[in-house]
Amino acid sequence: MTKHDSLDHDTERDYRGERLQRVLAQGGVASRRRAEEMITAGQIRVNGRVITELGTRVHPSRDEIRVDGKVLRPQPPRYIMLNKPTGFITTVSDERDRWTVMDLVDVRERVYPVGRLDRATQGLVMLTNDGDLAHRIMHPSYRIDKEYFVFSDTRPTEPQLQQLRDGVRIDNRRIIPEDVRLHRETVEGTAIKIVLHEGLYHVVRRLMDAVGIPVTRLRRTRLGPLHVQGIPTGSWRDLTPGELVQIFQAVGMSEVDADRANNARTIQLTPVGGFSHQASGSGGAGRPAPRPEATSGSNRQEREGRRGSSTETGGQGGNRSRGRGNSTGRGNRHDSNRSSSSNRNRRSGRRG
Ligand code: URA
Repeated sequence: MTKHDSLDHDTERDYRGERLQRVLAQGGVASRRRAEEMITAGQIRVNGRVITELGTRVHPSRDEIRVDGKVLRPQPPRYIMLNKPTGFITTVSDERDRWTVMDLVDVRERVYPVGRLDRATQGLVMLTNDGDLAHRIMHPSYRIDKEYFVFSDTRPTEPQLQQLRDGVRIDNRRIIPEDVRLHRETVEGTAIKIVLHEGLYHVVRRLMDAVGIPVTRLRRTRLGPLHVQGIPTGSWRDLTPGELVQIFQAVGMSEVDADRANNARTIQLTPVGGFSHQASGSGGAGRPAPRPEATSGSNRQEREGRRGSSTETGGQGGNRSRGRGNSTGRGNRHDSNRSSSSNRNRRSGRRG
């Protein structure tokens, strides 16, 4: 797993499972480091076999994992779309204590972001704990559209747009967008629509830089069949059952799999949370300021607990240490729209 803790970007097309230490950490067994120690100490069995090799991959939904003899129960799946504001990084945890998308999405399941958006980029981020789906969405071979709107204060020329359409070399690869078009002129400049299957680091900004188009704002609006429209900035909601089927099918998974996931998950369909910037800049450098009505605050201590070092194996399906009030579990229950006073209020000022 990378330092950003989002999905592993394997070059392999097939989902090879997830690293055992990550599954243990995500399951609330222990911190990643402690989980590694537990593995090398022979405390973990997978399908009856003691595993001591770090980096062993497991399929959390299929494999039986035991910690000191106790079964690690799989979590119910969760599928969330967030409209990320600028100023937040797309990671589960940040060693520099910057604001992350996890400050906006507060659910019992240990979801993580599928791919990344830069701190200064806004728009659609999917979060899930379904490693197979996440892998497929990110792997270019599944050809999932990533649609962006690039705002520029300079009107691009036709040769610049054609250069993009013809493809640009980045990291020794020729990146050929699926679509590039001038979308509209706005008060803040020109909006260019670009659709890619690639998820390379800073790919859109690097493409624009390569052809000399300055970027004032970047927004992702679509991931395959999933549109961010209707989700206010800083808010999230779960995928509707129809969206779930669509995204499963878009990555070659069956409707039966989608139905099974749908029946097992928690669904919150009314957007939760909200966010506005105190001071915004083109780079999104303004300090994030929660709206008073924000409902998805995340408590720092609870978050520490979520990452924490408990060695219990009970409650792995959720985050006992977090003690959160939202419902979870099977049978299509709906989360209540929690109205915790935003803990970010207390935290604002501690970050920049
Ligand atoms: N490309 C970028 O440059 N930034 C993003 O956040 C996503 C794609």
